[in-house]
Amino acid sequence: MSPAFSPAGSAEPLIESPEPAERPGQARCPYLVVRDPEVVKEALHRPSDFSPANALIAVTPLAGPALRVLQRIGFALPPVLASNDTDTHAGIRKVVAGYFTPAKVAAMEPRIRELVREAAGNAAGQLEQSGQVDLVQAVAAFPPAVVMLELLGLPIRDLAALKKWGLDSMELFWGWPGEERQLELARSAADFYVWLRRLVAESEAAPGRNLFKSLSEHGLSRPEMCSLGYFLLIAGQETTTQLISTTLFRLLEGSAPLEWKDAASEDGSRSVVRHVLTTESSVPTWRRVAAQDTLLGEDLIPAGTEILLELTANHITAPAEPSLPGTPGRDTPSPLGLVFGSGIHRCLGAKLAELEASVTVQETAAALPGIRLLDHEPEWIRLLSFQAPRTVTVVNRPGERL
Ligand code: HEM
Repeated sequence: MSPAFSPAGSAEPLIESPEPAERPGQARCPYLVVRDPEVVKEALHRPSDFSPANALIAVTPLAGPALRVLQRIGFALPPVLASNDTDTHAGIRKVVAGYFTPAKVAAMEPRIRELVREAAGNAAGQLEQSGQVDLVQAVAAFPPAVVMLELLGLPIRDLAALKKWGLDSMELFWGWPGEERQLELARSAADFYVWLRRLVAESEAAPGRNLFKSLSEHGLSRPEMCSLGYFLLIAGQETTTQLISTTLFRLLEGSAPLEWKDAASEDGSRSVVRHVLTTESSVPTWRRVAAQDTLLGEDLIPAGTEILLELTANHITAPAEPSLPGTPGRDTPSPLGLVFGSGIHRCLGAKLAELEASVTVQETAAALPGIRLLDHEPEWIRLLSFQAPRTVTVVNRPGERL
C-alpha cells in the first residue's frame, strides 16, 4: 500500500519532496497533507486520535498589534462545536442540528426560490441598466445569509456588514495576512464579535425560539455562544455563497460538464452543483491535529502533528500543473461523501447548502439565458480552507436581450 501523505503541492498523492518555493501553497502549508480519500475518512472517523481542536486556529500566527485589538474587546473562541473535542460536543451539536433538520430545510425551499428569483430579477434589471452585473454580489451573496438567519430565528439586519465580516474573518484565520493586513482584519473581527455579543444578549431576552436562547437553555455561557455564533454565521452562509460563485463561473466559462441553458432545469442545476462540490468545493480542506502518537494507514503520526485533510482539489494540495489561476487540477472527483466532512463533526448544513446552491443556479440560468462571462480571470479567494472567484461579471451576448 502506498503511504497516505504528501507535502503540500506534490504532484502525486504521497510522500514526495516539495516543489520549488515559488508555488504559493508551499511556504504557507506546514501541515501534513492527507490526500487519499479513504485515509481522510479514517482520520475523520477517529476524533479521539485526530482531534478537531485546531479547526479555528489562525493559520498565520497573529502579531502583537492584531492580538491586542482582539484582546481589548475580550474576543475568545472557546471550543463548542467545530473545534470541540470533548464530550460536550454531542449535546451542543444536537441543539444546533434542531435548527437544520431535513424537514425544516425542505420546507425552506419556496422561500429560497422566492429570494433567489427576486435577486435574479434585480440582476437582470442591473444588466439592462448598466450593461454588466456581478453575479456574486447580485445573486450569490445575500440569499444564503437571509435563509440562515431566518432558520436560526435571528433578526435579518446588517447583511452587508455580515458579508464583509465573514470574508475578513476567513482571511484572518485561514489566510496569510501580513502585519498591516492583520490589523485591518482584526478590527473587522472585533466589530463582528461586539455585534455578535449584542445579538446574543438581545436574543436571550427575545420572544419566541432562536438559536441563542436554545443554547443558553442548554447551559452555554455568553463567550461560548459568541464562539458558536462566530463560526456558524460565517460557515452557515459564506461557504454556500462561494459554492454558488464557483458553479456560476465554471458554467459560464464553459468548463463545467453542462451548458448554461441546461443549468436552468432542476436536474441540471443539481448535477452541476454536485460536480463543483466534488471537484473544487468551497471548503476543499479541513484540519485535524494528532491527539497522541498514533498510526494512520501504515504511518506513525507523532502527537501534535497538524494535519490538512484534502476534501476536494484546491490550490494548496494541488499538483504543480495546472497552476493558478486555472482549475485546481484534480482529474478524479472526490467522493461526495467526503466534501462535507464525515463522522461526528460532519457539516450540519450540507442539505441546506446543496439546496440553496441548486435553486440559485437554476433560477439564475432561467432568468438570464442570454449572458456571457465578461471577466475570464477574476481574482479568487484562495485561503487554506476556502476558495471561490470573488466576482462573476457577465454581460449580454451580442444580439441578446432579456
Ligand atoms: C457549500 C457549503 C458548505 C460546505 C462545503 C461545508 C463544509 C463543511 C466541512 C468540511 C465541515 C467540517 C466537517 C468535519 O470536521 O468533519 C463543516 C462543518 C460544519 N458546517 Fe458546513 N459547509 C457548508 C455549509 C454549511 C452551512 C450552510 C451550515 C449551516 C447551516 C454549515 C454548518 C456547519 C457546522 C455547524 C459544522 C460543524 C459541525 C460539528 O463540528 O459538529 N455548513 N462544514
